[in-house]
Amino acid sequence: MQQSIVRLEGAAKTFPTPEGKSIVALDRIGLDVRRNEFLTLLGPSGCGKTTLLQAISGFVELDAGRILIDGEDMTERPPYRRPVNTVFQNYALFPHMTVGENTAYALEIAGVGREERRQRVAAALRMVGLEGMEGRRPRQLSGGQQQRVALARAIIARPKLLLLDEPLSALDKNLRQAMQIELKTLQHELGITFIFVTHDQQEALTMSDRVAVLSGGRIQQLDTPRNIYDHPVNNFVATFVGASNLFEGELDGDNLLIGDGTAIHHRQGPSSGAATALIRPEQFLLADHDGLPTLDIELEQIVFVGSSFELFGHTSQGRKVMAEIPASRRNLVGEIEQSRKVRLSYDPDAVHLIRPEAGVA
Ligand SMILES: Nc1ncnc2c1ncn2[C@@H]1O[C@H](COP(=O)(O)OP(=O)(O)O)[C@@H](O)[C@H]1O
Ligand SMILES: [Mg+2]
Repeated sequence: MQQSIVRLEGAAKTFPTPEGKSIVALDRIGLDVRRNEFLTLLGPSGCGKTTLLQAISGFVELDAGRILIDGEDMTERPPYRRPVNTVFQNYALFPHMTVGENTAYALEIAGVGREERRQRVAAALRMVGLEGMEGRRPRQLSGGQQQRVALARAIIARPKLLLLDEPLSALDKNLRQAMQIELKTLQHELGITFIFVTHDQQEALTMSDRVAVLSGGRIQQLDTPRNIYDHPVNNFVATFVGASNLFEGELDGDNLLIGDGTAIHHRQGPSSGAATALIRPEQFLLADHDGLPTLDIELEQIVFVGSSFELFGHTSQGRKVMAEIPASRRNLVGEIEQSRKVRLSYDPDAVHLIRPEAGVA
């Protein structure tokens, strides 16, 4: 019933390089963005995130494919005629204008009257936590405050669709985390569809209703943060999102044989053929837990990171293994440091299998 607010069909874009070659920035991307959702495009630098966002806003012209917004074909429409607002990666406020004037800019262009402008500026600034700062100049604000002005300026026109290109990446960690929560709340309150770009997987997991993981101009997986984390479709997604232990091997019923007589138990149904088992570091437990399968490792290093210990080691075959042990188990960690041998156990239900046919092409 609910028609998607943005639809991309076979969206393709290639850029020429100075050496006379070409880079595929968008490889025939199909995507449906749901109304009022917070959708994040996540991927490493150069994977096509900005190009995809700018194809939606109209600043990048597609080589092939179509873009629909609210069911209307936008492919040939210039940016200013699309119902979209963008917060760019390098937000630029007008330095000679006050915060109020910067925020009101779009309304002034649209010919909105002075009193309504004043009210809407006040409301927008309140929403981003800059109440009463109308009279300041950008240089009198911190980086985080300037970024909020850029946001207020983008939301004041009440767009149906807001595109945000790494809007938080210039901020320091504490402010970034605070802004993540604020932005998510704001999006919820305003009922605007957000398409948000980041290369930070933690940010993507924290904020999004759904995440599209991109690599090489393709969407590798589009799913909820939990499914992306728990059930990645291929090795790229498994390693890009979160820390991971990947064990390649041959399936034999409920076991994955990883060589040297070692097996990883799983509960995804008996099967055969090649597969990779994913076990997240926090799924490993220390010592024997009744009835749980085990994995023995030689310890290489223990790193204390505050809330937990990170154990780095390898199996007898030399496969690297990382385990995260809660700091509350510090007594046991002391013993391990002495013996250098660790028996880890894990719940087979927490083992996720990746089959090769789902691999990155
Ligand atoms: N205007 C352009 N001219 C040439 N190459 C470009 C241009 N814009 C982007 N690219 C290339 O396309 C690929 C995707 O870029 P981009 O979408 O900016 O990636 P991201 O935002 O994920 O870092 C990169 O290899 C980049 O170098
Ligand atoms: Mg970019």
